[in-house]
Amino acid sequence: MALKNVNPSKTQAWEKLEKHYNDTKDVHLRELFAANANRQEDFTIVNNDFNIDYSKNRIDATTMKLLVELANEVDLKGAIASYFGGEKINATEGREVLHTALRTAAGYKVLVEGENVVEDVQATLGQIEAFTNKVVSGDWKGYTGKAITDVVNIGIGGSDLGPQMVVDALKYYKTPLDVHFVSNVDGDHVSEVVKNLNPETTLFLIVSKTFTTQETITNALTIKKWFLESASEGDIAKHFAAVSTNLDAVADFGIDAANVFTMWNWVGGRFSLWSAVGLSISLAIGFDNFKALLGGAEEMDRHFETADFEDNIPVVLALISVWYNNFYGAESEAILPYSQYLEKLTPYLQQAIMESNGKSVDRNGDTIAYQTGTIVWGSTGTNMQHAFMQLVHQGTKLIPCDFIGYEESLYGKEEHHNKLMSNYYGQQEALCNGKTKEEVIAEGKTAEAVIPFKVFAGNKPSTAILIKKLTPASLGKLIAMYEHKIFVQGIVWNIYSYDQWGVELGKVLANKIYAEKYNS
Ligand code: F6P
Repeated sequence: MALKNVNPSKTQAWEKLEKHYNDTKDVHLRELFAANANRQEDFTIVNNDFNIDYSKNRIDATTMKLLVELANEVDLKGAIASYFGGEKINATEGREVLHTALRTAAGYKVLVEGENVVEDVQATLGQIEAFTNKVVSGDWKGYTGKAITDVVNIGIGGSDLGPQMVVDALKYYKTPLDVHFVSNVDGDHVSEVVKNLNPETTLFLIVSKTFTTQETITNALTIKKWFLESASEGDIAKHFAAVSTNLDAVADFGIDAANVFTMWNWVGGRFSLWSAVGLSISLAIGFDNFKALLGGAEEMDRHFETADFEDNIPVVLALISVWYNNFYGAESEAILPYSQYLEKLTPYLQQAIMESNGKSVDRNGDTIAYQTGTIVWGSTGTNMQHAFMQLVHQGTKLIPCDFIGYEESLYGKEEHHNKLMSNYYGQQEALCNGKTKEEVIAEGKTAEAVIPFKVFAGNKPSTAILIKKLTPASLGKLIAMYEHKIFVQGIVWNIYSYDQWGVELGKVLANKIYAEKYNS
């Protein structure tokens, strides 16, 4: 069944939300906490190792009720069934959206045109496992008989950002292999990456769903040439593997058929790290950890598919984001992980969120008159507190923040972790409560003329995502949480989240300019 086509701004819930916004927009979070001693408990969802405290948002029980009404009016329930059920909800490309099938355990069924794709997925996972074990154990030998020490992932966008983020985030769980990433067509990037590598002990993964992407093919050809300076054509099979849906183009490139990993058109590039696109992840952290990453994502899938909307983490996060985007006029959201391991989470989410929901035409093909995709940005705490947080605390813009923290650190440096988490909580409290003029005066330390500059208005919304520990499973669960948030928002905004026509024009023009100006 196709997705319903409902203009959210014409729903009854939207009208009620507009009125509710006008009635409550000036209420301070301080007042909301004062009025309800159980506010934190009332607006927290606990799901095993995840604790989502959304009480510091400018919402009350009525807001949540109306937002759920909106979700019901746009038929979110039916849309979720279509998503997991393998309907062609990526209608403009005529494709299913089934990254969730990539983490569905063996034995289950997800049908695409009558075929159970879970069997294909499991077969590819078996191939990833065998390949990973062979390379990590040193059984896989390079052209001079030496074991592999380094892996280079050549890809861009979804064929780079997800794997790169996960490899970096899970480096605590690392195998002996060092994994590198080449993405930019900027030749200095590839040069810097290969300059210290030994071709005898390096494995190259060319990752491109289409195998036509200019950046990836250019980098792959440059690397092949560099490799052939010291090795011969016959050695390529020992050093190059590819991940793609375009098996003919892979064969033309000269990759040995045994080193080719397939992916499927029903997986979007920005949601593909769970497929063989994540081969670099499996090599970096071992296959068991890769499986655990998938398992964590599957746990979030089941939660999202079955929980009531009021208790459903991705649904609640998405609806609150709609509330700020469409009623408060907030333009951006900050993602603030209090873990240096998650340094690359924001660039990854920027593609996932902004390539998906940066649309201005609805499912009828009509221009949209309300706001859609949010701008996301952010960086890790505590570093960002010394960078951009001034603007979030005292600037003129409303920027809802996601704070992501862990109860435990990985190396157990308790003093550091306690200080880190004190900042995590401290920032949320400062944003929420602010500091009044009276409080500044009561401190008795500030000259009168300076008092206005030390006042914090507060009432700045944030959500606290507290996770027990950074593990492959909890990271998988976190990524899947954001994937489903994206889905819900696309449903509410009545857009197609899974195409990306907006990136095409620039690509075409770059090729034209290259042909005319540089290659004539
Ligand atoms: O930027 C557009 C895009 O198509 C992304 O959606 C995709 O992740 C990226 O290019 C790379 O595409 P491919 O994996 O086909 O090389």
